[in-house]
Amino acid sequence: MTALRNTSVALISDAAPFAIRAERGSDVVAREALLDACFGANRHTRTCQRLRDGRAPAEGLAFSVVRQDGQARLVGTVRLWHVSAGGVPALVLGPLAVDASCREFGIGAALMTHALAAAKARGHGAVILLGDAPYYARFGFTALGTGELSLPGPFERDRLLGLELREGALEGAWGMIAPSGAEAPLAKPRLAGKARKLAAHAA
Ligand SMILES: CC(C)(COP(=O)(O)OP(=O)(O)OC[C@H]1O[C@@H](n2cnc3c(N)ncnc32)[C@H](O)[C@@H]1OP(=O)(O)O)[C@@H](O)C(=O)NCCC(=O)NCCS
Repeated sequence: MTALRNTSVALISDAAPFAIRAERGSDVVAREALLDACFGANRHTRTCQRLRDGRAPAEGLAFSVVRQDGQARLVGTVRLWHVSAGGVPALVLGPLAVDASCREFGIGAALMTHALAAAKARGHGAVILLGDAPYYARFGFTALGTGELSLPGPFERDRLLGLELREGALEGAWGMIAPSGAEAPLAKPRLAGKARKLAAHAA
């Protein structure tokens, strides 16, 4: 496995005050707010969410974009997830989102390029996503290798796209795409003040 150099900070351009870095635990609230704003509060009912429910993203493959102008505000996110694509190991990418105030600066493209390079460096063979072909075609995604695959819920066939990071990685991919990643760690319950003191005392 080749480690990706400089995954923590990669400037998108000298002029733009944005950086891509590995997602941190402290990003969760801002990330979820960004996703709500981009996809709506009912986003959890989408078919692709069934591939992420209760799972952790693939190791080293969750990224945030933050402003570098003193705000350190999170303005972009992408994550990749382990799946079995009809028995073939692959990653599913998504959701990809950029804050509406920061679009058309190339952040989405930089985030995609960074995430795909990181996935390749970690030895993954293929990435699948459900999304707009006119956008994802620029990164090499096509519907060619995904015609025999399906998802655990309704989806539009022409939006199921794949990219082989290793030639032939999606050959023989036939059947249901199913989650195969590690379970997400359970969120620690937040204890009220008195209960927290009691727990600390008991420890
Ligand atoms: C899609 C998204 C991530 C792009 O982010 P971005 O930082 O604006 O992307 P970039 O600046 O790298 O690219 C902008 C280009 O993509 C195009 N583009 C953006 N969304 C597109 C879409 N859904 N279909 C086709 N082209 C699209 C823009 O028209 C622009 O084209 P140009 O380069 O010819 O001017 C952002 O628009 C977003 O978060 N949208 C809402 C969430 C979403 O729909 N995410 C998944 C997309 S399926």
